[in-house]
Amino acid sequence: MSFQTEIVKWYLINKRALPWRDTTDAYVIWLSEIILQQTRVEQGLPYFNNFLQSYPTVTDFANATETQILKLWQGLGYYSRGRNMLFTARQIRDSHAGIFPRKYDDLIQLKGVGEYTAAAISSFSANESKAVLDGNVFRVLSRYFGIETAINSTEGKKQFNELAQALIEDQQPSLYNQAIMEFGALQCKPKSPDCGNCPVQSGCYAKTNDRVSLLPLKLKKLKKRTRYFNYFVCFDGGQLLVNKRTAGDVWQELYDFPLIETENPYLEDQEQFLTKLKTNFGEACIIAPLAKQKHLLTHQTIYVQFFALDNYIINFNMNAEIKWVSLAAFEELPQPKVITNFMISNSIKQ
Ligand code: ADE
Repeated sequence: MSFQTEIVKWYLINKRALPWRDTTDAYVIWLSEIILQQTRVEQGLPYFNNFLQSYPTVTDFANATETQILKLWQGLGYYSRGRNMLFTARQIRDSHAGIFPRKYDDLIQLKGVGEYTAAAISSFSANESKAVLDGNVFRVLSRYFGIETAINSTEGKKQFNELAQALIEDQQPSLYNQAIMEFGALQCKPKSPDCGNCPVQSGCYAKTNDRVSLLPLKLKKLKKRTRYFNYFVCFDGGQLLVNKRTAGDVWQELYDFPLIETENPYLEDQEQFLTKLKTNFGEACIIAPLAKQKHLLTHQTIYVQFFALDNYIINFNMNAEIKWVSLAAFEELPQPKVITNFMISNSIKQ
């Protein structure tokens, strides 16, 4: 039996029942794929269900406001994905008569839709013969076929693409693509896969050559940037002082609190911290440290420290986007995860 036949056979026995597999609606598949680029299946499922229930068609999605979309997206991170989705949905409503494209060449033109997503949507919705290459597929191909080229190198991408595309010829594209992704997710797992129970172990290069834990290869990333965010919680008469984040930095358009960013933790460079504090909140303000959080983004590590503030005078010049809102209003606004975590763990409720 060929590699592909074994993988499909394994899939038909072991596959999970997932709602986006029972449809050929390109909009529904797009929704699931964008969410699943951001999170694992178990965590993505409630988001998928919420989005689909709120917006059953791409036109319903397009008619939503950015705030509504970001609110449903809240917690998934990487908020430009949510914004790109809205842009794309509106483009489809306005320029494609509300009909979601199903061809690879049309899909790849859409904002936020890369090669993987275009291959996934075109194969799942219209059985177009385009091979998907996500982390799961890279791992399976690298191990089974013994490809020792880094998956994030230009040469590696070309090599994996050619192999993946050759393997899907003569297969049912939708079935085979689902099968190899599921095989990577459940059987050929990143850590400690159960090779003794694998249907393709006898032909597997990595198993035979003891390379399972070493493949696939990846080039090392650049060092992450470290940042220190000092947030000030000003809560007065049921109103909270909030800040709408602007373009050019993380969490664009989301709402947080007045912020002083420092180059070091505030305890390590109190002079810089206190100077900035006095400039923005007055000489006589009193601070009390509250919770700390560490937040990991793709290219940044953000250390977050919250402070309660008393006896302050706000210098609104620090940021034009600062305003007072009620707690009820704040709950309706999209927020970065660190802020939501803070509100929940400190039981700040109406
Ligand atoms: N991860 C990304 N796309 C997926 C899909 N269609 N099914 C299961 N897991 C996935």
